[in-house]
Amino acid sequence: MQAVEIKKDIFWVGHVDFDHRDFHGYSRCPDGTTSNAYLIKDKKIVLADTVMPGHAGTLLCRMAKVLPPEKVDYIICNHMELDHQGALAEIIERCKPEKIFVSQLGLKSMAGYFAGRNWPVEAVKSGDKLDLGSRTVIFQETRMLHWPDSMVSYIPQEKLLLSNDIFGQNIASTARFVDDYDDQWEFSHRIKEYYYNIVLPYSATVLKTLPIVESLDIDMIAPDHGLIHRGQKAVKFIIDLYREMAEQKPKQRALIFYDTMWRSTEKMAYAVCSGLEENGVPTRIMSVKHNHHSAIMTELADCGAVLAGSPTHNNGILPLVAAQINYMGGLRPQNRIGGAFGSCGWSGESPKLLQKSLADMSMEMPQDPVKCQWSPGKDALKACHQLGASVAATLKKRCAG
Ligand code: FEO
Repeated sequence: MQAVEIKKDIFWVGHVDFDHRDFHGYSRCPDGTTSNAYLIKDKKIVLADTVMPGHAGTLLCRMAKVLPPEKVDYIICNHMELDHQGALAEIIERCKPEKIFVSQLGLKSMAGYFAGRNWPVEAVKSGDKLDLGSRTVIFQETRMLHWPDSMVSYIPQEKLLLSNDIFGQNIASTARFVDDYDDQWEFSHRIKEYYYNIVLPYSATVLKTLPIVESLDIDMIAPDHGLIHRGQKAVKFIIDLYREMAEQKPKQRALIFYDTMWRSTEKMAYAVCSGLEENGVPTRIMSVKHNHHSAIMTELADCGAVLAGSPTHNNGILPLVAAQINYMGGLRPQNRIGGAFGSCGWSGESPKLLQKSLADMSMEMPQDPVKCQWSPGKDALKACHQLGASVAATLKKRCAG
């Protein structure tokens, strides 16, 4: 078990969990995750963030490779969510730091999670500086990126930004740096997965924050999840990718998600898909039975259109589609074209309900929903194809500009 020196006398001391799958109870991390923590050795010794609950031992072992943990003077908590502070109590117990720094709003979450502790906590605000000897930590609050208490720590002498959740990804690997990771597609996919399932609702804040990050002299961004962005090329890449994801400019690609009872809605989904692809819009169909809601959300990162299908069930939408709609709506995607379809035995409310749900996400709905009773025949399949064609035409127009 090693500490990894990422800059002279600055060490990664985090925990890699190859078996973690359920990230925060709502998002899947199919290949595990990493909680990063950083140890800075200067005249004053600093630990920036801790690790997931249950892994304090790993953190302490890595720290002990560098120095006795009791030598830590300061702990910085950039964000109080427990994937970063789950080991805080054990670490404080062992290190007995002189001070623990949190953001102004971090005081509240600190008091909530760790009530009754008599810890030497001090709140900092944007621009506050912490002198370590030969280095300075400058704090920058990043409220609602993605919690009220979130902040980042900048060390100008090292051109290093400790960015907490921002720019992170759920990757478990022995590689510590993006440039050491052998699958760049996978890396970008995991960035999109993290953004689209966690950061997306705060895209307006991202767009306000990126210029602040760009105004700093940085050649390394070390997030609290996954790989570290090393070198100016990597820093520029991740900032540009974040801007692209936050802007949500239309992309000429579509996502269809659906559920089915007796395969009627499934046949409709494939007919809608034909209408899209035959009109120049590459499309992915994802069954909600076979794809986790967070995987479907990740796919939306590359899609300017989204179409939902469900048979009518008890005058409503099938439960897994309803859950997907609810999840997607909470993440507030912007600037999408939508479409809805579904089969029914008798009452047939589902397509209209889906149409309304997507419209409530501010999606442009170029066509009325398509409903089919019993099994889709030639006319119903033609209507589905037309729905795909209509969405394709609207999307292409929007992409053109
Ligand atoms: Fe918001 Fe990685 O915790």
